[in-house]
Amino acid sequence: MSREPGADTHIGIVGCGNILSAYVRGLRTLPTMHVLGCADVDQERASQAAEAHGIKEFSSVDELLDDDAVDVVVNITPPVAHAAVSKAAVSRGKHVYSEKPISASLAEADSLLHALSTASGRLGCAPDTFLAAPNQTARAAIDAGLIGEPIGAAATIPHSRAEEWHPDPSFLFGPGGGPLLDMGPYYIVGLVNCLGPIYSVSGATRIGANPRRVTATNRRVDTVRVTVPTHAVAILRFASGVLGTLTASFDLWSDHVQHIEVYGTEGILRLPDPDKFEGDVTFKANAQNEWRVVPPVLALQNWSSKDGVPRGLGVADLVDSLAGSLHRTSAELGYHVLEVLESIEESSRTETVQRLESCPSRPPALRAGDLLGKVASTGDASVRASEP
Ligand SMILES: NC(=O)c1ccc[n+]([C@@H]2O[C@H](COP(=O)([O-])OP(=O)(O)OC[C@H]3O[C@@H](n4cnc5c(N)ncnc54)[C@H](O)[C@@H]3O)[C@@H](O)[C@H]2O)c1
Repeated sequence: MSREPGADTHIGIVGCGNILSAYVRGLRTLPTMHVLGCADVDQERASQAAEAHGIKEFSSVDELLDDDAVDVVVNITPPVAHAAVSKAAVSRGKHVYSEKPISASLAEADSLLHALSTASGRLGCAPDTFLAAPNQTARAAIDAGLIGEPIGAAATIPHSRAEEWHPDPSFLFGPGGGPLLDMGPYYIVGLVNCLGPIYSVSGATRIGANPRRVTATNRRVDTVRVTVPTHAVAILRFASGVLGTLTASFDLWSDHVQHIEVYGTEGILRLPDPDKFEGDVTFKANAQNEWRVVPPVLALQNWSSKDGVPRGLGVADLVDSLAGSLHRTSAELGYHVLEVLESIEESSRTETVQRLESCPSRPPALRAGDLLGKVASTGDASVRASEP
């Protein structure tokens, strides 16, 4: 079901938890987007969210999915509910943007992609942070040859310290969560956007501290039992020949890590936290000691984390794609990300190297005017990225 460029889009949100406000705030900065209403299995939460944001309270998820006025469903339920909600929505002809991971298991993702193959609805999947300036700038710099031939990459995922800020972080320490499936998607999608798809992985994982004490001031639980690995190390072999390493840990309590580095024959690129939409990309030539900031290749208009990080760029990407643009935050990319992360756990369980079946193409680079006009170019990417 394609849509006219510039058509109004009416959004129904399923899942009224912690991240809903960030979506409403972000979506309201996007032209032609209208947040219509919300639904939750917990009616009290739907009611509170509807009142807080002045939107319609649906009496059930089914009522929202059956409403002809809803064009796009934003699925921000916990990971274990992602596949069922997305499947129910696309099978009713809705387009869906789902939070990450695409589902809590690859088996669910297979079944979801099968449903999509016969549905008229399209599925987009978070993370969308790679659409922002830092990752687009790093990609442009690599494509322009700033670091020469890319040889290696290293990613380190520190603990998001959810015990300190999420009212109920239980799902972050259970199936679909852990540092791999909760935070890993930001890093893997950022690496794939810069370096292309991953060919095989091997890894080792374990559970660290268990149980976890929840200290958030608005907590609904006091402790959480951990049932998935909280510390993982992996080797990522990219189809391009680049060799990467990944450390993903909810037992690494530090903000002072190098989130992503890419090593080339001519120099090193350092990328900021890929969970954010902001931050400098820095470069050091191999033969020198001085780091310098790579000028950003694009700016996002009215997209500021002053009041907390907004969300919703991926929904704009989905809507752009319905009007004919190439889809960047695609279901195929979301599937690849999950396959990479789940295969690390499988590698640890079986002590084998896991060859991946999915091999999506790199999403196209963003251009001025993309994301419903939100992207402003700051100049020619190839020239600016390689200027000293
Ligand atoms: N909290 C964050 O800062 C954050 C940031 C980025 C992404 N995310 C992602 O967003 C998603 C939601 O996270 P959250 O922190 O808002 O979770 P949450 O637990 O605070 O809220 C989830 C809501 O979904 C509802 N729900 C559960 N199953 C449902 C179903 N089948 N149908 C309808 N509603 C259902 C729950 O009742 C709850 O209100 C997760 O995938 C998470 O990874 C969260």
